[in-house]
Amino acid sequence: MRIGVLTGGGDCPGLNAVIRAVVRKGVKEYGHEFVGFRDGWKGPLENYTMELNLETTRGILPRGGTILGSSRTNPFKIENGVERIKQNLADQGVDALIAIGGEDTLGVATKLDSLGVKVIGVPKTIDNDLNNTDYTFGFDTSVNIAVEAIDRLHTTAESHHRALIVEVMGRHAGWIALHSGIAGGAACILIPEVKFSVDKVCEWVESRFKSSYAPIIVIAEGAIPQDGDMITKDSELDAFGHVKLSGIGEWLARQIEAKTGKEARTSVLGHIQRGGTPSAFDRVLATRFGLQAITAASEGDWGKMVALHGTDIVRVPLASATEKLKTVPLERYKESEIFFG
Ligand code: F6P
Repeated sequence: MRIGVLTGGGDCPGLNAVIRAVVRKGVKEYGHEFVGFRDGWKGPLENYTMELNLETTRGILPRGGTILGSSRTNPFKIENGVERIKQNLADQGVDALIAIGGEDTLGVATKLDSLGVKVIGVPKTIDNDLNNTDYTFGFDTSVNIAVEAIDRLHTTAESHHRALIVEVMGRHAGWIALHSGIAGGAACILIPEVKFSVDKVCEWVESRFKSSYAPIIVIAEGAIPQDGDMITKDSELDAFGHVKLSGIGEWLARQIEAKTGKEARTSVLGHIQRGGTPSAFDRVLATRFGLQAITAASEGDWGKMVALHGTDIVRVPLASATEKLKTVPLERYKESEIFFG
C-alpha cells in the first residue's frame, strides 16, 4: 500500500514520534510506501509533499514540532477542496491517509471518510480535549513545562511578596491549568468550564499572603469571569472559526491590584508550552499510537481513530473523537479546591 501521512492544527511534542513509528513498522513489517503531505490539509490540497522513508524519519523521536509542518487549512472552506484532495491522492497513487491532529484536523478526516477517502486518525493536542481517548500526546509535556514555570515563579513571588499569575493554554478545556495547578501547588486554578468570582480569587490571594507565602494563580486563556466575557486578542477568526485568546491573566492582575492593594504580575506561557522535546510519557504514547495506526491501516480498518483507554491502545470510530469536547468534569475541578487559598 502507498499511504499518505499529515499533521494538522497546532503542533505539539510527539508528532515526530508518531510519524517515525508509522513509517518504521509500515516499511519493516508490512512493506508499505509512504508520502509525507506537508502543512496539514494544505499538503493533499496542493500536492505539497516530502519523502517519508526509514532515512528521512531517523533521529526524529526526541524532536519537537513536526517534520511535515502544520497549518490550520480547512479544505471544506476552499472551492472544490474535497475534489482536489481526491484527485491529488489518485495522482500520487496514495491509497489511504493517516491524519494526526486534534478537533479540527480529525473533524475534516471524519468528513472525508464519509466521502469515501480511506482514513485513520491519530489524536494529538496539548489541550487533552479530544473525546474518546483518556489522553492525547503533547498534554503531558505541556503540563511539565507549565509546572516548571510555576516552581520558578513561586520563589520570585515570595521574594517580592507579589501575586503571580500564570496564563496557560486551553480555550474551552482547562486540563493544562488543572493538572499544572495541582502539581505546582497553585493558590487557585481558573478554568474555562467554571466561571470565576474575582472577589473569591482576591480572598484566596489574601489568605495565601497571610500564611507568609505568595500566591500563584494558574488561569487558562479561555477562563471567564462571572461578570464578564472571554478575553480575545483581536476579532480575527481562523479557517475553523477560532478566535485568538490571551489577556485574561493581565486583566485579572489589574483586578487583584485594585481590590487587594498587592502587586500582581502575569506570565503568559503561550507557545513555550507547545515547543521543544516531548516528555518520555508522550514519546511512548505517540509511538504506541503510531504502531496501532499503521496496523489498523494494514488491516483496512478505515474510519477509526487510535485511542488510549486505561493503559491499552484501542480503535474507536473516528467520528466519536469530535462528537463533543472532553472538558474538565465539575467534580474533578472540585477535588482541587481544597488547596485554594
Ligand atoms: O489547540 C491547541 C492550542 O495550543 C490551544 O491551546 C491554543 O488556544 C491554540 O492552539 C493556539 O493556536 P495558534 O498557535 O494557532 O495561535
